[in-house]
Amino acid sequence: MILNDNTALISEIKTILGDSSRKAYVRSFGCQLNVSDGEKIKGLLKKIGYSFTEDENEADLIILNTCAVRESAEDRVFGIVGSMKKLKELNPSLIIGIAGCMTAQEHIADKIKRSYPQVDLVLGTSAISALPGLLLDHLKGARFSADISEYDDFSAAAEQVRESSFKASVPIMFGCNNFCTYCIVPYVRGRERSRNAQDIISEVRELVNSGYKEIMLLGQNVNSYGKDLEVPVSFPQLLRELNDIGGDFIIRFMSSHPKDASRELIDTIFECDKVAKHLHLPVQSGSSDVLRRMNRNYTAEKYLDIVDYIYEKDPDFSLTTDLIVGFPDESAEDFQATLDMIKRVRYDNIYSFIYSKRSGTKAAAMPDGISDEEKGQRMRTLLETQREISSEHYKRFIGRTMRVLVDDKAKKKPGFLTGKSSEFIIVEFEGDPSLIGKFVDVEITGAMNWAVAGKLVSGI
Ligand code: SAM
Ligand code: SF4
Ligand code: F3S
Repeated sequence: MILNDNTALISEIKTILGDSSRKAYVRSFGCQLNVSDGEKIKGLLKKIGYSFTEDENEADLIILNTCAVRESAEDRVFGIVGSMKKLKELNPSLIIGIAGCMTAQEHIADKIKRSYPQVDLVLGTSAISALPGLLLDHLKGARFSADISEYDDFSAAAEQVRESSFKASVPIMFGCNNFCTYCIVPYVRGRERSRNAQDIISEVRELVNSGYKEIMLLGQNVNSYGKDLEVPVSFPQLLRELNDIGGDFIIRFMSSHPKDASRELIDTIFECDKVAKHLHLPVQSGSSDVLRRMNRNYTAEKYLDIVDYIYEKDPDFSLTTDLIVGFPDESAEDFQATLDMIKRVRYDNIYSFIYSKRSGTKAAAMPDGISDEEKGQRMRTLLETQREISSEHYKRFIGRTMRVLVDDKAKKKPGFLTGKSSEFIIVEFEGDPSLIGKFVDVEITGAMNWAVAGKLVSGI
């Protein structure tokens, strides 16, 4: 069922709310797909007549768009919802809604309903388009309205309120079929559904025509794209079509699953001039035994085959990864294999997480004899090892001129700007804020372990 046409509901809400100005505070947690959903939620609220605030104290409506990937993410949201009881006491007409991945777990939805009476609305991950209906129920007097049904995905491209005026996220698929044994995502986001290729191409063309410089294609496994379409389109095919769109822009994508990282995908990255020269390829562990228990469907050797194929083409190619430390019963040897993996691959950056038990997943039932102290120590060792790798590895950029999309002013360095190169490396340099949102050339003169520094050679 598709609830995309909610024009009638929206005009009924507008009639009830009248002309008074209303502010909404929408905060998204978790991955970029969730941030993209937050942009769609904002799009709907804008249609209803809300403007937006970054300060929850002045909001008439608060939507927390939640993440369930780790327990710490959930605890954070419960802490915030708890503290909002005060806001509701001060302003009884304040409306509080919880959206996103936490709501898709029955025990969490129950807990919200039972223990947090300040919450008025609960909205499932596949029910964004139900928001106007829920809001209307609330305005007509319902104490608590929830919709966690699985409607079709809400393809409200035109209605999004995007966070940036030059970088746009474009989800190309939703859900996940992989059921990695530690992961909650397939349970809260459903099975893989790919968007129609022509819709994606039109959306990207429109974004480029309206001045967007970076297009980030999103999916839990972007390189599994298209398998479920009536006329299957592969991810490399989609990349080539997007690369043919005229204009000056860069294409990024995330995440790629190693089991589907084909040589064709690698060739496509090298052959398409607009596709960023960077690959985020989450390995999770360097131990084939742990990978098997994680149900990742590749071995450490298979992963290294694809890395070697990339490095044969360009030994300096930029790779980043995700890693989990302390998977149930991860042995000292398993952890050593992870350290060996990061030293062998020389990632530019890693995103590492201590394993978090997720109720309902297969790993939650696995015995785990490793103490929290040991897991913490392994995490520190991993981060220290990566810091050394990054400091050394970033030096390869010194002397090169990098094309950089300027993101923002540098936080702690007046007069300096930061941006990202095609390789997804943070670049810091002196420059005028009018360059934000533009491509510039920067000659790299120094390397830290988190960024490189340089001198502007174009766009001055
Ligand atoms: N689909 C992507 C993939 O397979 O690489 C990852 C998406 S997931 C939202 C982002 C990262 O969170 C994963 O790569 C994994 O490292 C981490 N993650 C997922 N479940 C976790 C858990 N239960 N505990 C700790 N980290 C977890
Ligand atoms: Fe989670 Fe695995 Fe799916 Fe990634 S591929 S979202 S880690 S189940
Ligand atoms: Fe979190 Fe849901 Fe993304 S669980 S990581 S917000 S898909």
